[in-house]
Amino acid sequence: MTLAPEHRRVLPLADHKPGRSAMTCLYRCGNACAHPAPNESENEYFGDIVAGAVAARLSRRGLLRLSALGAGAVAAGGVLSGVGTELAAAATPAAPRTPKGALTFTPVAPNTADAVTIPSGYKSSVVIRWGEPVLPGAPAFDVKKQTAAAQAQQFGYNNDYVAVIPLDRHGERALLVVNHEYTNEELMFPGVKSVADTTAEHKKIAMAAHGLSVVELERVGDTGQYRPVKKGKRYNRRLTASSKFLLTGPAAGSDLLKTKADPTGTVVLGTLNNCAGGLTPWGTVLSGEENFNQYFVGGNGAPAAEQPALKRYGIDITAAVPSGNRRWDLVDERFDLSKHPHEANRFGWIVELDPFDKNSIPRKRTALGRFKHEGGGPTISNDGHAVVYLGDDERFDYIYKFVSDKKVRRGDTKHNMTLLDSGTLYVGKFSGDSPAAEIDGTGKLPADGAFDGTGTWIPLVRGNESLVEGFTVEQVLINTRLAADKVGATKMDRPEDIERNPVDGKVYVALTNNSNRGATGAAPADEANPRNSNRHGHILTISEKHNDAAAESFTWALPIVCGDPKDASTYFAGYDKTKVSPISCPDNVAFDKAGNLWISTDGNALGSNDGLFATPVSGSEAGHVKQFLTVPKGAETCGPFITPDQKSVFIAVQHPGELEGATLDTPKSVWPDGQYARPAVVVTWRPKGDQRIGS
Ligand code: FEO
Ligand code: CA
Ligand code: CA
Repeated sequence: MTLAPEHRRVLPLADHKPGRSAMTCLYRCGNACAHPAPNESENEYFGDIVAGAVAARLSRRGLLRLSALGAGAVAAGGVLSGVGTELAAAATPAAPRTPKGALTFTPVAPNTADAVTIPSGYKSSVVIRWGEPVLPGAPAFDVKKQTAAAQAQQFGYNNDYVAVIPLDRHGERALLVVNHEYTNEELMFPGVKSVADTTAEHKKIAMAAHGLSVVELERVGDTGQYRPVKKGKRYNRRLTASSKFLLTGPAAGSDLLKTKADPTGTVVLGTLNNCAGGLTPWGTVLSGEENFNQYFVGGNGAPAAEQPALKRYGIDITAAVPSGNRRWDLVDERFDLSKHPHEANRFGWIVELDPFDKNSIPRKRTALGRFKHEGGGPTISNDGHAVVYLGDDERFDYIYKFVSDKKVRRGDTKHNMTLLDSGTLYVGKFSGDSPAAEIDGTGKLPADGAFDGTGTWIPLVRGNESLVEGFTVEQVLINTRLAADKVGATKMDRPEDIERNPVDGKVYVALTNNSNRGATGAAPADEANPRNSNRHGHILTISEKHNDAAAESFTWALPIVCGDPKDASTYFAGYDKTKVSPISCPDNVAFDKAGNLWISTDGNALGSNDGLFATPVSGSEAGHVKQFLTVPKGAETCGPFITPDQKSVFIAVQHPGELEGATLDTPKSVWPDGQYARPAVVVTWRPKGDQRIGS
């Protein structure tokens, strides 16, 4: 972290964002909220997946994939030239329809139970927990005798992004793809009260507990329940902080990406802090490397000319070792920037993984820029180009969009796997349509009755041409934050998940919170971020011109301004607030087939546990936010993922029991098994009657 001297002595658990435990702040993002926000720039403030016919998938895989991603991944709004009729039909622009699939479940009340609490009439079960075997032959989990070799074959820690890809028409089998964002050593190892207590083996276990898992699942009976297959596991895979990844795209091979171990600047060991992600229309998974800054030491020893960029990414350029740093440099010196100054440049990318080929090497796609990637929201433009929406999850950082040069080709997986290597990277600029004087920072609606306005996508790079003065293409893509600062992008309140609604074609952005909005010296409220000291966050929608994901201009609006509905600063699309569930800190979003918006939260600042919520986005019920479930004490709700058949919703219960003073030996949550807390993926389904999730 870049700290002024007066900040360096911040106690590890002393300062954290409201609603999130100090321990989470320490281990998840290296106490980002305790430090000045890195953006000090002067710019304006502002399908039926049939993926598998598994046995015969090889030649037909691409075709099957493209026909499959109906539920979540393929967007509305495009004539997919060359992509195939059924997809084109699914994607043809249309006037917003009246959503079918009313959300009739009885909402769960806010609570602080050490349990997953679901609506009446539903069931839930743990699908897989931290430490359970993933690879064939992996040892059983023993929390007292864990080894790095075992962990590298077992389900990782702190599951975040969740994708579930059916392997057959009925989803009898499916691939679960999960990110493992970070580790909490105090909750993982007996006798460990802080990172200072960890041994070399503990550090190697932590490295092996990061990354991704691919786990083959089977449906249980005719229900929405799933469990890992016991035999087969032909796709099962673990990727860790030591696995091989390739850098591809325009910045691959840049001098800024070269290290002693990799003079080519194209081969990286590991992926770090993988947060959210996305499922592409061609059947691959995107995974966002988020708070990678916290894994490095020695920034003060990096070349002076490169230190400002390190600082802009939140990397400590003082001699101090940041509190909570896992000290992996002590077991792998590439995490010491004084010895390997470019190693940090090799993280902060969007990773593309082919979950169908366990021998494939995942790619870090440099064309999508480098920042604290929350995730990637893929879609297809009206004329068939791949589009990915991207959020940089930091206070006062930006929203981005990538549009590929090439078009998606139905059935051509090899071609589609090149789409994210060349294109235009944009950053968003949001302008309000109300007088600035009417945006007073309280959340009071302006006279026109809406927080809304217009916006443009400012191009940073087109193909191999930089559009930012003074920056080469490589510089834009590697130090993307600096380039975006220069072009006047709008400073946002922590842009997290961004997804396009397949029904209305709008792009939904979760802006989690920003308690520093309006603070002395910081950006004041603006119409797109209308509350100072924004503790509860909001949802922003982007309506692209001509409903085309490749458009360079748009209108935007805030349909939901989160918080306790009794709080005058909240807004729920004009819905009767007495009927709305309190919601705080929206993080991840998903859609069901009816286009209902599902929102998971991180850091509920209202005193309840985090949860999963759902609301219609149009019609008379728009804004009727209802809480679908809550997660155990200290946990955050990640995912969510609604299966294409609408019968299952998966969530990741991340960091259960991550509360002050908790350790493995003295847990503050014992979910799910009654002894100590274990991060796990949970599926919820409705066993009887209308099995559709939300009914
Ligand atoms: Fe890993 Fe932005 O949450
Ligand atoms: Ca307005
Ligand atoms: Ca997140």
